[in-house]
Amino acid sequence: MTTAQRLRGRVVVVTGACGSIGRATTVRLAMEGPEAIVALDAQCDFGGLADDVRAAGPAVLCLSVDCTQPDAIAAGFRQVHDRFARVDVLVNTVGGSVRGKVGEFWCSEPATWRQVIDLSLMSAMWCAREVVPGMRERRRGSIVSIASSAATQPIPTLVDYGAAKAGVLGFTRGLALELAAFGVNVNAVSPGPIDTLGLQQLPEVRQRSLQGVPMGRLGTPEEIAAAVAFLAGDDGTFVTGQNLQVNGGKAFG
Ligand SMILES: NC(=O)c1ccc[n+]([C@@H]2O[C@H](COP(=O)([O-])OP(=O)(O)OC[C@H]3O[C@@H](n4cnc5c(N)ncnc54)[C@H](O)[C@@H]3O)[C@@H](O)[C@H]2O)c1
Repeated sequence: MTTAQRLRGRVVVVTGACGSIGRATTVRLAMEGPEAIVALDAQCDFGGLADDVRAAGPAVLCLSVDCTQPDAIAAGFRQVHDRFARVDVLVNTVGGSVRGKVGEFWCSEPATWRQVIDLSLMSAMWCAREVVPGMRERRRGSIVSIASSAATQPIPTLVDYGAAKAGVLGFTRGLALELAAFGVNVNAVSPGPIDTLGLQQLPEVRQRSLQGVPMGRLGTPEEIAAAVAFLAGDDGTFVTGQNLQVNGGKAFG
């Protein structure tokens, strides 16, 4: 695929970079001409991701960081600043429900809600906190957070997840207003059901998800990555505070 150089010269950080959407996004952004890509993930094994990024041109740094732990996040971003001096683009991909603890709200546990909110909302806020001062100072930057169609179209049994992702949308809109005068755009991408490894491991859920999509198919991680590339790069600089729904028409079904 040939792409425009929408991220020419930028230093880009992607969290959750080893996941289905995170990996597709990392590889796609690497093809948009950035100076460097930093892949953050709780995993230690980045499974060839560095080679894929390097093959596309930019420098690459893979860091094992738990994005729910503020101290670990601060240490990770210190390494990024030591090596590249700045962050121009932050993509918050970390998020999800807690596998094995999905169920109706009335019998769910507060400890699980906290875990889901830490993972799906707080992680984005902690990471944004590390990059906003530099973006304000340089009067340039872009933050894109992966929310979910569950933020606006709630899913029973995923009430905590929907609440956390709705929080991501509120955070996005508020931060966008605070940073608009500094030329920094802040947006969310809300995927509908995407054909990720996680969904492939749950055939019944996958089948059920399909039924709610007017286009009659699941999205691909690459289609989410393309939306992120638009918002984070030169084509999206006047777009801010928005929630781009990439869901095969689910919002209109
Ligand atoms: N899969 C879908 O259909 C779908 C739909 C809507 C929204 N989303 C959202 O898209 C994002 C990515 O989804 P996915 O299915 O590709 O996820 P995934 O489970 O494939 O990947 C998540 C990645 O995040 C990493 N991770 C988990 N906890 C972490 C932590 N504490 N710190 C750092 N990294 C951590 C994992 O190691 C993994 O590599 C999530 O925010 C998810 O909520 C997914």
